Amino acid sequence: MTDSSPKTIDTLLSEHRTFVPPADFVAQANVSDASVYTTADADYESWWASWAEKLQWDKKWDTVLDWQLPYAKWFVGGKLNASVQCLDRHVDAGNGGRIAFHFEGEPGDCRTLTYADMLAGVCQVANGLKSLGVEKGDRVTLYMPMVPELAMTVLACARIGAIFSVVFAGFSPTSLKDRVQDQAAKLIVCADGAWRGGKVLDLKKVVNEAVADCPSVENVLVWPRGGALKSSAEDLDRDVKWADVVSSQATTCEPESMDAEDPLFILYTSGTTGKPKGILHTTGGYMTGALATSNLVFDLKPETDVYWCTADIGWITGHSYIVFGPMANGVTQVMYEGAPNYPKFDRFWELVAKYKVSVFYTAPTAIRAFMKWGDEHPDQHDLTSLRLLGSVGEPINPEAWVWYLHHIGGGNCPIVDTWWQTETGGIMITPLPGITTTVPGSATTPFPGIEAKLLNEDGSEVIGAGGGYLALTRPWPSMLRGIWGDNERYEETYWSRFPGKYFAGDGAKRDEDGNLWILGRVDDVMNVSGHRLSTMEIESALVAHEAVAEAAVIGIAHELKGQTPVGFVILRNGYEATPELSEELRAFVAKEIGGLARPEKVIFTPELPKTRSGKIMRRLLRDVAEGKAIGDVTTLADPSVLQGLQQEYEAKES
Ligand code: PRX
Repeated sequence: MTDSSPKTIDTLLSEHRTFVPPADFVAQANVSDASVYTTADADYESWWASWAEKLQWDKKWDTVLDWQLPYAKWFVGGKLNASVQCLDRHVDAGNGGRIAFHFEGEPGDCRTLTYADMLAGVCQVANGLKSLGVEKGDRVTLYMPMVPELAMTVLACARIGAIFSVVFAGFSPTSLKDRVQDQAAKLIVCADGAWRGGKVLDLKKVVNEAVADCPSVENVLVWPRGGALKSSAEDLDRDVKWADVVSSQATTCEPESMDAEDPLFILYTSGTTGKPKGILHTTGGYMTGALATSNLVFDLKPETDVYWCTADIGWITGHSYIVFGPMANGVTQVMYEGAPNYPKFDRFWELVAKYKVSVFYTAPTAIRAFMKWGDEHPDQHDLTSLRLLGSVGEPINPEAWVWYLHHIGGGNCPIVDTWWQTETGGIMITPLPGITTTVPGSATTPFPGIEAKLLNEDGSEVIGAGGGYLALTRPWPSMLRGIWGDNERYEETYWSRFPGKYFAGDGAKRDEDGNLWILGRVDDVMNVSGHRLSTMEIESALVAHEAVAEAAVIGIAHELKGQTPVGFVILRNGYEATPELSEELRAFVAKEIGGLARPEKVIFTPELPKTRSGKIMRRLLRDVAEGKAIGDVTTLADPSVLQGLQQEYEAKES
C-alpha cells in the first residue's frame, strides 16, 4: 500500500529534498556504520580480499593485486569456479531447498526452481555442452529470452570453463553475426522463440540468418520455448535439440578449477566507432565484486528476501545482478520473461504482490513509463513487501525518483541509484541504503574501496563542488581486463584521455555535500532506454542503404527513453526525399542493428554542418533537433547549411 493522499510531483519534490535511511532499515542493514568507507580506503586491497575470502576457493591466491597499468590481475594464483559460488556452496550448506527463481513466463506459465534444481539443471547443460565437444576456453554465444535456461546455460559454461557471451535477444541477425564472428564461437545456444507483448518472436529465424556466415559455429543448440512454438525457420544441419543433448544428461558435473584470471565472459557494448567492443571479464575479481556489491548495495538477506531485477541477462545488469551477484549471495529471485504492460499495465505490480518482492531494481526509463501509464496501476496492489528500490542505466530525473519512492516504495523505501558500466562489471557509485542520506537524482558517492575523481580538460582534478570528466583512479576487482582481441583499443579508449586513469566516458558534477550527479556521456555514445548505442554504428547502418550517400546521427532528449536517435541523411542522386523512404530507412536501421536503434526520425538534407576539416558538427545538429538556439558556428565551413537544416526540420515537425 502506498501513502493514501494523492500528491503532486511538485509536492513530493518539496517533501523529499533528501531522504534519510529509516531507523528500522538501519537497524537491520548489512552495513550501517560509515567506517566501512574509511576502512576500505585505508587499504583497498585488504578490503576486497576480505570479500574474496567469502568465496569458495580451490586454491587461495598468492597475491591480491598485480597492477601493471592498465592491466590488473586480481587474486593471482587463486583457483575457483564461478558456478560453484552460485550453486554448490549453497546446496552444500544445506540450502538446496531454497527457491532460486520464481519464474513467470509472459503467457502466465510459472515454474519454481530451487538452488538444488538449478545445480542439477546447470550440470545437465554442462554435460550437454561437453558432449558437443565444448572445452575450456571455447566461446559459446547465447541468444535466449529471460528464462531459467538462460541463467543455467550461463552457469553451465562457467562450470566447464567455456567463455560465454550473451547477445540480447532483440539484436538483429547482423549484430548477432558480428559478435559470433568476433569471438569465433564454437556453439550457439538459442531458444526457438520468445514471448513479448502477447506475440512470439521467432528467434530461430534470426539465428539461422546470422549463422549462415559463421563458419566457426559447429552446432546450434535449440531450447524449445514452452514446447508449443513452431518456429518458421527451417532446421539446419548444425542444429541439435535440447531434448536430445541436455535432457537425459547426468545431474552432476565436476566443476573445472579455473584460474582467478581465466576469462569468464565477453559482453559486447557500443563504443564510439561502428564496431561494438567485446568487453572481457575474468573469474575471481568479477565474482568478488558481484558478491560484495550485491550484498551491500541491495542489503541482501538470503533467508527472507525476494529480489527482482527487471533487466535482461543480455545486458551487464543481468549478468552481475541476476546471475552472479544475487546467486552468489544465495537469495531468492523473481524472473519474468515478457513485457511490463502485458496483458495489462499492472503486470509488474501484480508480480511484486504475488511473490512478495522485497528488493526491486529497475531502470529510469521503465519508471517514467510507469508514471505515464498512471498511478492507479501500482496503487491497486499491495506493495508493502518492498523494503528497498534500485535504479540503473541512466540518470534518474528527480521527478521519477520521488514518484518511485512514493508510489512504489510507499514513501519509506530507500532508493539506491547505482552508476556503473559494462566495463566496470559491478556498481561503482551508489548509496549504501543503511548509511547514505540520498538526494533525488544523485548517485551519491563511490562504493567502499572505489575512488572516483572529476577531472578538468587538462587532467587536473576538480576539488570540491564543480563539474568534470568522471574517472576511476584505482583498480578494482571486477574491472574489465581488456577488449576481446584488441588491446590497443582497450588502452586507447579507456586509459589515454587521462593517462593512468580509467576514463568512463561520462561527465559528472559534485555538489556542496560531496554527492556526485552523473550528467551523461561526453562522447559519441547515446543512452536509449538505459542501453548504450553508438552514433557511428547507426550511421554505418544508414549508409549501408542504397539510397544514402551520407548520414549523421545524434541522440536527442526523449521524455520516456532519456535519449533517442535522430538521423540526418543526404540522399544519393536519383532518390527522392519522401516520407516513405524516411520510414524505410528507420526500418532498415532496426533490421540492421535491432529495434532499439530505430531512429525516432530520419531527416533529409542536402548538406551537413561540417568543420573546414570535414568533421560533422553533431553538437549543432542536436541544437537543431532539440529546437535550441544554435551554438557557436564559427568553425563551420558553410554556416548557411544550418538555416536550410532548421527549415527541413521544422517542416518535418509540423
Ligand atoms: O552513461 C552511463 C549510464 O550508462 C552507461 C553504461 O552503460 P552500460 O555499459 O550499458 O551499462 C548500463 C548498466 C550498468 C554509463 O556510462 N549509466 C549507468 N548507470 C547510470 C548511468 N547514468 C546515470 N546514472 C546511473 N545510475
